[in-house]
Amino acid sequence: MNTQAKTKAIWNELATWWDESYQEGDLYHRTFLFPTLTKWAAAKPGQRILDIGCGNGALARVFAKAGADVVATDFSEVFIQKCQERSQDLSIDYRVIDATDPVQLESLIDLGPFDCIVSSMVLHDMPTITPLAQALPALLKNTGCFIFTVPNPCFNSGLTDIELLKKHMAEGHLIMPNRYIKPQQHAMRSKPGQPVDQLIFHRPLSVLFDAFFEAGLVMNGFVEPIAAEGALPPDFLWAQLSDIPPAVICRWAKPNPQP
Ligand SMILES: C[S@@+](CC[C@H](N)C(=O)[O-])C[C@H]1O[C@@H](n2cnc3c(N)ncnc32)[C@H](O)[C@@H]1O
Repeated sequence: MNTQAKTKAIWNELATWWDESYQEGDLYHRTFLFPTLTKWAAAKPGQRILDIGCGNGALARVFAKAGADVVATDFSEVFIQKCQERSQDLSIDYRVIDATDPVQLESLIDLGPFDCIVSSMVLHDMPTITPLAQALPALLKNTGCFIFTVPNPCFNSGLTDIELLKKHMAEGHLIMPNRYIKPQQHAMRSKPGQPVDQLIFHRPLSVLFDAFFEAGLVMNGFVEPIAAEGALPPDFLWAQLSDIPPAVICRWAKPNPQP
């Protein structure tokens, strides 16, 4: 099985557990991601929004409830089934699309162009992000924006070599994390209780951003979200690391947009 097929098999296996634990957005997503995503997308009637890697569709439903026309896609058939079960009173166009496949991405052009394309916590699950980045200019309106979130690759990559860290700490130094610049694949569980590992494709910010610069987009928004004091239960990991932004949120546009 190639890497992409393995990734898809893992997400199909994880989807039912993820849907039950995530519901309409878990604490992490609601605290760190939803406020900026909903502010930037500014969903309203008449607007077309595309969600890439929609999971169980929680964000797509937030946009649809605000009146936007939403197309929401994921490569996992099981997730798309969960989306449909959770959205019976809403008209959201859910589709099975693999965002690493240029041909499947091209099939979305007829549904656009979109005012806003969102991909939240997906890019680090994809072995390649070039086809998606290259597809964006044709999918976006001239005045449209693309927003992605990923775990902060500087602080939240899971790439800490504990033995090396212990050695440096014993010598009075603290350098953490101690792996960063090399793109690499590794397996980890991002949520407590997650039954199987995900494959993570770590990219440093330079590599991540370069894919979108190469596609001709410019970045016009960047947020490193932290929680307001007291917003999280004290035993929550990110309440204990309150000075570390666990994710980054980036907004992209076409240069010099003409309406
Ligand atoms: C961490 S979940 C995030 C789901 C959702 N965006 C959210 O924020 O709740 C990652 C999602 O990306 C999807 N995914 C991973 N690789 C993908 C690909 N190549 N094409 C489309 N979806 C993909 C997975 O099936 C999963 O639903």
